[in-house]
Amino acid sequence: MTESWLSTFPGYLATLEAVKRLFANIIQTGPVPQHIGFVMDGNRRFAKRENIELKEGHNAGFESMAKILEICYECGVKSATVFAFSIENFKRNKMEVMWLMELAKARFTQIVQNGELCEKYGIQIRIIGDKSMLPKDVLEVLNEAERITKENTRAILNVAFPYTSRYEMTNALKNIVSENVDTLDLEAITEKYVEEHLYTGDQPPLDLLIRTSGVGRLSDFMLWQVSKKGEVEMELSEKLWPDLTPWDICWILIKYSFKRSYHNNTVSSLKKVD
Ligand code: FPP
Ligand code: MG
Repeated sequence: MTESWLSTFPGYLATLEAVKRLFANIIQTGPVPQHIGFVMDGNRRFAKRENIELKEGHNAGFESMAKILEICYECGVKSATVFAFSIENFKRNKMEVMWLMELAKARFTQIVQNGELCEKYGIQIRIIGDKSMLPKDVLEVLNEAERITKENTRAILNVAFPYTSRYEMTNALKNIVSENVDTLDLEAITEKYVEEHLYTGDQPPLDLLIRTSGVGRLSDFMLWQVSKKGEVEMELSEKLWPDLTPWDICWILIKYSFKRSYHNNTVSSLKKVD
């Protein structure tokens, strides 16, 4: 409400853009997470609270996702992985599943037609998960989004749709076995080798996992990546996903920077003692 009133002022957008860049510059003076995972939870509770249709709650979730990702890429994040649809979500009400599919189709059609954001930040879109479960028309649009952004090299957006970690790990194992079918050498199958066969295998390791709506479960999301030598920071926000603002994400990134600096200093002072 306040934002739409403010946005009528001349120069509002330019000022907002400048403020965003200023914050991004400040944040980049400290450690910036290279890879962030998002469990975007709370769309339905948001719809209920606002007394709007459920599909509008998911739509608001998409709007929020676009704004938050923009800030992340502006701050220098290289990879973002968003949990847009779990394989388990196919068990939800048929109408809701259909709305989510329609939302993906409509929004990714927009991205394909005028992908300014992907161009501005050089974002390559990757759809990760069991794509064979998607309706053909949705799959075509998502494949097209991947195709037109595949030459972009500055940043990556992994859209987990439909995804679970168990599926990702099973898929990695299948690929490993099929690659090694003639020369199966068990010694060659190391943790690093398995990691390279995950969808995120060629990307910076996960540094930060953000989940909204006051829920602390991992919900079968990035389970391998989150266990990286105990170094992944977790941020559990009480806010519902559509309520999360770019200011919230700036604050989360600032906190991350302090925590990492403290962690790095502690580790290096312990090494001196050794
Ligand atoms: C979880 O909230 C959210 C989802 C299952 C869908 C996430 C999708 C978006 C944020 C939109 C982005 C979409 C695409 C296609 C990229 P919930 O439905 O579990 O809500 P609740 O926790 O309040 O029940
Ligand atoms: Mg939920």
